[in-house]
Amino acid sequence: MADIDNEQVNDIEIGIVGSGSMGGGMTLLFAEHGSKIGCYDYEEEAVQKLMNTAKEDEKVNEKCVHGFTSLEKLINAFPKQGGKERKPRIIVLSMPHGKPVDGVAEELLPLLDKGDIIIDGGNEWWEETERRQANAKEKGIEWVGMGVSGGYQAARHGPSCSPGGTDEAWKVIKPYLETWAAKTPEGEPCVLHMGPGGAGHYVKMIHNGIEHAHLSILCEVRGLLHDQLSLSNDEISDLFESWWKEGPLRGNFLVGIGFKGLRFKEGGGIKNAKDGIVEKIEDKVTQDVDLSEGTGTWSTKEIGERHVAAPAIAAAHQLRIISADKFERSKVADNLGLPQPSKAAEAKLDKAEKSKLMETIHTAVYGAILGAFVQGLDIITKASQDQKWNISLADCIKIWRQGCIIQSDAIAEFFLPLFEKFPRSEPLNLLKSIPEIAKELAKTYEAQKKLYSIAIKTDAVAPALGASLEYIKAVNCRELDTNFMELELDYFGHHNYDVKGKTEKGHEKGKYHTEFSKTPGV
Ligand code: 6PG
Repeated sequence: MADIDNEQVNDIEIGIVGSGSMGGGMTLLFAEHGSKIGCYDYEEEAVQKLMNTAKEDEKVNEKCVHGFTSLEKLINAFPKQGGKERKPRIIVLSMPHGKPVDGVAEELLPLLDKGDIIIDGGNEWWEETERRQANAKEKGIEWVGMGVSGGYQAARHGPSCSPGGTDEAWKVIKPYLETWAAKTPEGEPCVLHMGPGGAGHYVKMIHNGIEHAHLSILCEVRGLLHDQLSLSNDEISDLFESWWKEGPLRGNFLVGIGFKGLRFKEGGGIKNAKDGIVEKIEDKVTQDVDLSEGTGTWSTKEIGERHVAAPAIAAAHQLRIISADKFERSKVADNLGLPQPSKAAEAKLDKAEKSKLMETIHTAVYGAILGAFVQGLDIITKASQDQKWNISLADCIKIWRQGCIIQSDAIAEFFLPLFEKFPRSEPLNLLKSIPEIAKELAKTYEAQKKLYSIAIKTDAVAPALGASLEYIKAVNCRELDTNFMELELDYFGHHNYDVKGKTEKGHEKGKYHTEFSKTPGV
């Protein structure tokens, strides 16, 4: 039986609230680096399990991990020291967003003192983070909202971290975070101070929006390759592996785990799956609609509220929503009765032609993935300007170079020198401000068209690929057909329009009106 709630312990350096897979991983990671950790969970079983894991983990000195089921006892286990020299207590929260965090905060804040630091390492809506920061500040306590990326294995071995909060708090937590964070091959820690207030959680939220677009692009293309173009999952795995090793998608984490995952023939209750377990996994993504995850929903909300064009991120989120209820979807399909996705004519291409098509698809997927980065980064810049956070896009790329889900080595190498030329909170609208990025995306246009045309012809579902293409088409178009929209808006709503050749300000409402009708209706 592990020693839990031991009141003799008096040398805890870091408290970790939440002993689930992420909190547990961080506990072991921090302990591996020599910090004395107090891990808390309200469920004794979770604490017990974590302490047993710590015992079995060769890299962890079990004496560095103490378990608690009482927050009060956890806080009492920090060294007792007063005066100016008192070391701030650092508590890391690793728990579901929303009410659970408020519950812990309510219990924790009265136990802490001025200068102590709470780091919320879960995903959280940035305004909630700012509300809690203001609340904690009343007691002189620092509240840091920090994105922690890379999943439970990165939590154990080194995640990518995006902290946001005051400079004072950053100064204290920086050495710890730099020790724990993922490192680039050159040894640079993937953690930087994103900015004040909710900047850290904001960057992580949009990281996840980009992640959702990338996940959708890859699942759509895997479907096209398998179902429409008749490649086996082993062949797709080899193809993804080649993309991961070389070319513009080199080092893309999701492509990397994709090729590995496609090779599994057994696992999680699935046995002897000749074409890989993917064919046997149910096609529903439920964590948005059951509210257990929020970052996709929040990212989509931000796209609307900040008026930033990010259709691939929004489309990816919508696909997840459509996918969520398997049974409802089947009933809708019965009512619609339309054709289901079919084989593409290109499935019959000879070897040489097919290999050429694979090159085109490689370029198309790169274009869509690059486009999703552009869209997400545009949201971050807009928010940074609106909220005066001063976020640096170069810093975002730097912390995403290792340990996180949207890691994409070749793309990071392309972006970084371009972003380093700009001051913080710049440049707004990447395709306008950085011609090199626009040119790079343009190079993928024909390939994206080709790939999406296969989806159109075969009734395959490819919303993120479609949105990626339509985004380029729309932002490239000098004469959009929205003039007719303006006419109709003015017709029924007196919204005014501008007249071609007389426009003075791009962003402002037009000055002209036509009295189309004297009576309502048609
Ligand atoms: C990460 C991930 C992580 C996220 C899960 C599930 O960076 O490690 O983004 O934070 O919560 O991957 O996210 P969704 O269910 O929203 O896809």
